[in-house]
Amino acid sequence: YIRPTPRYTMATKSGDVNLVEAAKRAACQQAVKDNFSPSFKYVGIGSGSTIAYVVEAIAALGPEVSAHMKFVPTGAGSTKLIRDAGLTVLQVPELLSEVGFAGRGTSRQHLDIYFDGADEVDAELNCIKGGGACLFQEKIVSRLSKKFICVADSRKKADRLLTNWGYVPVEVSPVAAELVRQALIDLGSKDPIIRFAGSTSTYLVTDNHNYLIDAPFPTLLLNSQAELIDPANGLWTPDALAAKIRGILGVLEVGIFSGLTGPQATAAGPDVEGVRP
Ligand code: 5RP
Repeated sequence: YIRPTPRYTMATKSGDVNLVEAAKRAACQQAVKDNFSPSFKYVGIGSGSTIAYVVEAIAALGPEVSAHMKFVPTGAGSTKLIRDAGLTVLQVPELLSEVGFAGRGTSRQHLDIYFDGADEVDAELNCIKGGGACLFQEKIVSRLSKKFICVADSRKKADRLLTNWGYVPVEVSPVAAELVRQALIDLGSKDPIIRFAGSTSTYLVTDNHNYLIDAPFPTLLLNSQAELIDPANGLWTPDALAAKIRGILGVLEVGIFSGLTGPQATAAGPDVEGVRP
């Protein structure tokens, strides 16, 4: 099996790599400038290559700004990123024992803010995430945060999800992986695959000891399924698709993020527009 390649990656010529990195850094610097406050106590840090520039921008503010803060990671990679920048790591279980377990609803949003990247962001700020294999802990941290700042360069913007990024990452129990794959095919996914680790022939194992299935969904087909359709516009909705996938026995979580608290997408630079498909 070959993992489906996002069309925007294919459109990125090798000579444009520096342009893309510059756009990611610019997006992150803007996101931190516009949204970061020295008064924050708990800050969520997501996963992936973009978020490294958020951590870089926060660290650049100096210890006088960040020394009293605790940074909540979304996996092993993000833990290392925070630590290497000299910032203080606080894992989710430690956060919960520090703040206590009382309260309901929004009073459980203990983090002041959560910065993370995305694989695709639509006009309503729904996202596809999980390209970097950390979607489950990302979803936990997003739920614990007052505000989710989704930082994405302009390649990732699309009017609707599944336009350029062709598949939905799904975290599954290894025991049920093949069953889930079959159920995803029944749901309309075309050739869902269990993700391999890099270029090896070994399945990738997530931080939570699970597998990931990358499930491509042709949008024409989604738009023909009555139970996924928003009657207001006749189009499939991310929420409905996520609920269907989450309902499959063996699925831990799905990489569709929707209805989050105050998400904002920060897209950087017209530069990268030039390499969009
Ligand atoms: C990891 C994620 C990442 O945020 C997403 O894959 C974007 O990564 P990058 O910034 O490297 O493009 O969801 O699970």
